[in-house]
Amino acid sequence: MSNLEQTLSIIKPDAVERNLENEIKEMFKNKGFSILKEKKIKIEKSEAEKFYKVHETKPFYNDLCTYLSSGPILVMVIEKHNAVLGNRELMGATNPEDAEEGTIRKKYGISIDKNSVHGSDSIENAKIEIDFFFKD
Ligand code: CMP
Repeated sequence: MSNLEQTLSIIKPDAVERNLENEIKEMFKNKGFSILKEKKIKIEKSEAEKFYKVHETKPFYNDLCTYLSSGPILVMVIEKHNAVLGNRELMGATNPEDAEEGTIRKKYGISIDKNSVHGSDSIENAKIEIDFFFKD
């Protein structure tokens, strides 16, 4: 099939802090994702600001960047057919309160900020976000 895609997933500080990395990785694998690359890092706030630049005009931007840089995160390149959409479906709605049963955010999310995972929202952004963390 021609639509094998890669997308970026981040397991956010709230989930790493609760040692949920392996459980969340299992959820990806159970949905048929391959984890091609992964690294656990802690980023500076200035890097979070660059990563989330699309949100810079939003009222939640500052808190979001403070939060993403508040503790270790696990960044991963994951792959399967239609990975971008499949990852968004597996993550569930941004606000865990709105997320459906069986999704990562429903299961583990604490709040709209501490929503446990980030995933690229388009194929174009997936390329940009993968490069952001894995270009070297
Ligand atoms: P994420 O998928 O990482 O992309 C941007 C993040 O901003 C989002 O998950 C949420 O954790 C956070 N956020 C905080 N407030 C809002 C909001 N009102 N709308 C969308 N995202 C928000």
